Amino acid sequence: MKKVTKAVIPAAGLGTRFLPATKALPKEMLPIIDTPNIHYIVKEAVEAGITDILIIVSHAKEPIEDYFDVNYELETRLKETGKLKQAEEIREIANMANIFYVRQKEPKGLGDAIGYARSFASGEPIAVLLGDDLIDDKERPAIGELIEAYEQTGGTILGCRRVPKELLRKYGVVKPTAKAEGKVFEVMDMVEKPKDPSLAPSDIAVLGRYVLPPEIFDVIARTPKGVGGEVQLTDAIKLSLEKRKCYACLFTGERYDIGDKFGYIKATLDFALRRDDLRENVLDYLRRINEENR
Ligand code: UTP
Repeated sequence: MKKVTKAVIPAAGLGTRFLPATKALPKEMLPIIDTPNIHYIVKEAVEAGITDILIIVSHAKEPIEDYFDVNYELETRLKETGKLKQAEEIREIANMANIFYVRQKEPKGLGDAIGYARSFASGEPIAVLLGDDLIDDKERPAIGELIEAYEQTGGTILGCRRVPKELLRKYGVVKPTAKAEGKVFEVMDMVEKPKDPSLAPSDIAVLGRYVLPPEIFDVIARTPKGVGGEVQLTDAIKLSLEKRKCYACLFTGERYDIGDKFGYIKATLDFALRRDDLRENVLDYLRRINEENR
């Protein structure tokens, strides 16, 4: 089986939940303190052994390309003023991985976006990481756990976590086989965004990480438009169940939905509390707010 060394990051969505900021700034560039969230996504992929990354962009996403490029002028300035560590840090960003870009012509859905990766994948399996889902990989990169599951099973892999029942309506929810147990188990079906918890086949939601087999592109090409008139990745994966087994992989890291405003605030606070330069001040401030709002 071919090793998974290629990853796709779809970043061509409109980001309407973060308007007005996303009118001019790609959602993926919103910083968690001082680092754009797409940096964490690329880092997760690289730590899992990915060497080549395709970012699916739209016309308004140049800041992403600039971020992963070399910035000679800034580097020179930093060096001239003795800020050598910072100069080195910004140079390292440009060397993280081989990064390629392709433009999705119109935002016609996640499935449609992934379809643009066909020639990049060139017959190989791909890891997919959605920028909305930031996974704190204290122990190990979540996508690495999925790649391991792919190597063990050879099936389509969905990155999953159990979520509270009242939140299931926001996600794709999997229907595991009757004998499902452990961390990786087979999935028989999926329900996209169940309107009511009683319609959800489990409490296990798909959260922004996938390993997709090479034939996914043929399947996407014959997937009819679904919800919102868009080509949905969930629909393509469901179609592919006829030929290829599909597995849920319960990854271990904490996950933040940073496409959602409260999820974004939680990620910012948690990341701040982990930093020596911020922890004490942030804690003091939180205690003060807590007192004032009693
Ligand atoms: P979302 O639906 O969460 O992202 O898509 P969005 O459309 O940008 O956000 P809102 O809901 O309007 O705020 C999940 C992922 O798929 C990408 C998005 O960039 C995001 O990373 N996507 C979505 C595309 O690349 N193309 C699309 O046509 C749709």
